Amino acid sequence: MRRLIRGVSRKAGSADGARAEPSAAEPAPPEAGARVLSIGAAAFHAGLDVVANPVLLVRQPGLRVVYANPAAEATFGVSRKGMVELTLPDLFGKSDELHNMLDTVVTRQFDVRRQDLILHPPLQDPIHVHVVIAALEAVSDTVVVEILPNEQKVRSDREERILDLTSANKELIRNLAHEIKNPLGGIRGAAQLLEFELPERSLREYTQVIIKESDRLQTLVDRLLEPHRHPHIVSSLNIHEVLERVRSVVLAEFPNGLEIVRDYDASLPELRGDMEQLIQAVLNIVHNAAQALADRIARGDAQIVLRTRIARQVTIAKRLFKLALDLHVIDNGPGIPEDIRERIFYPLVSGRDGGSGLGLTLAQTFVQQHEGLIECESRPGCTDFRILLPLH
Ligand SMILES: Nc1ncnc2c1ncn2[C@@H]1O[C@H](COP(=O)(O)OP(=O)(O)O)[C@@H](O)[C@H]1O
Ligand SMILES: [Mg+2]
Repeated sequence: MRRLIRGVSRKAGSADGARAEPSAAEPAPPEAGARVLSIGAAAFHAGLDVVANPVLLVRQPGLRVVYANPAAEATFGVSRKGMVELTLPDLFGKSDELHNMLDTVVTRQFDVRRQDLILHPPLQDPIHVHVVIAALEAVSDTVVVEILPNEQKVRSDREERILDLTSANKELIRNLAHEIKNPLGGIRGAAQLLEFELPERSLREYTQVIIKESDRLQTLVDRLLEPHRHPHIVSSLNIHEVLERVRSVVLAEFPNGLEIVRDYDASLPELRGDMEQLIQAVLNIVHNAAQALADRIARGDAQIVLRTRIARQVTIAKRLFKLALDLHVIDNGPGIPEDIRERIFYPLVSGRDGGSGLGLTLAQTFVQQHEGLIECESRPGCTDFRILLPLH
C-alpha cells in the first residue's frame, strides 16, 4: 500500500507540472496551511498531530490536502510534504459518495457527515473505512476529514477468522484425539498386566505412573471429543435458568470475596437449544473469570456481571438474524494476558499453570452448534465475553 501511494505521489509531483506552479486562483497548499495557522490554529494542528486516526484538512476547490497528521503519514506512507501535493482522488480514487459528502459539508448543508465507505485507492485493494467530514468554523472552504476503521468490517473479519479457525480445529482435534485414544487403552492395559507380573511391589510405582498418566490423557481426549460425541438435545429453555445454574456452581466454589451481579432483561423470549451444552459453555467462561479474579477475591472486591439483552438485526457468521440473545460475562480482573489474547479460542492455549486450554475451545464449539458466536474484548480491569445466540 505504501509503495503504491508513493508512486501516486511521485506522479502527482512530477508529471502534473501545472500543479507545481501555484496559480493565483488556486493558492499553493503551504499558503493554505498558513491560512489555517493564521487563524491562530497552531494549537489546533498540534492537537490533530496527536490524534491516533488519520486526519486530513482538505480544501475546496480542488480537494487539495493542506494538512495531514502523523497518523495519516504513517497509514498512507506519504510524508506530510508529499501529502500536500495530492488531492483526495489521488489518495482514495474517485468516489462519488465521498465527493458528495465533501460538497454538502463545504456548502454547509451539513456541519458534519459520517458514512461507511469502500474507497479504491489507485492500484490498490479497496479499503473499508468509516469517514467523518466536519466543517471548520473559521475557514469556510476547508474541511476536516477523519478516517476511522469500519467497526462492522473489523467485526466481520474477526468473526470470519474465528469461524475458519474453529472448523479447521474441529477436524484436527477429532482425528488427533482418536489417534491418541486407541493406543492409550492398550498402553494402560499392558501396564496393568505388567503390574501383576512384577516381582517387587516397589516397582509398581512405575506402572502406576503409566496408568495414572494414561488416565489423565484419557480424560483430556474425552473432553476434546465431547462436543462431537454428545447428540444435540434441543428444547425450549430460558437463558436465565442457565445463568442461575452457572452462578450457583461458581459461587459454591468461590463463596467469599466474589460478587456475581445479575443484569437480566426479563422480557427475553425462550431460546431453543441444548441446556447442558449451554450451561457448560457459560460455566467455562464464568469459571475462567473467577479464576482470573483470584487477587481481587482475596481483597474482597471481585465482580462478575452476567448481562442479558436482546439484539436486533445481527449478523452472525455472515447470516442475518432478526433477533438474537446478547449475553455478556464481564469481570473486573486483570485482563487476558496480551501474548495469548488473539489465541484464547485455540485448543491447548492456556495462560494458567495447570490449565488445559480447552475451556474456551469447547465453549466456542457448543455456541457454534447453536449457530452463535463468542467474542471477547479485554483490557486490565474489564474483560467482556460476548455470546451471541440467534433466537428463531
Ligand atoms: N476472564 C478472563 N480473564 C483473564 N484471562 C482469561 C479470562 N478468560 C480466559 N482467560 C485466559 O484464557 C486462557 C484460556 O482459557 P481456557 O480455554 O478456559 O483454558 P484454561 O482455563 O484451561 O487455561 C486462560 O488460561 C486465561 O489465561
Ligand atoms: Mg478454563
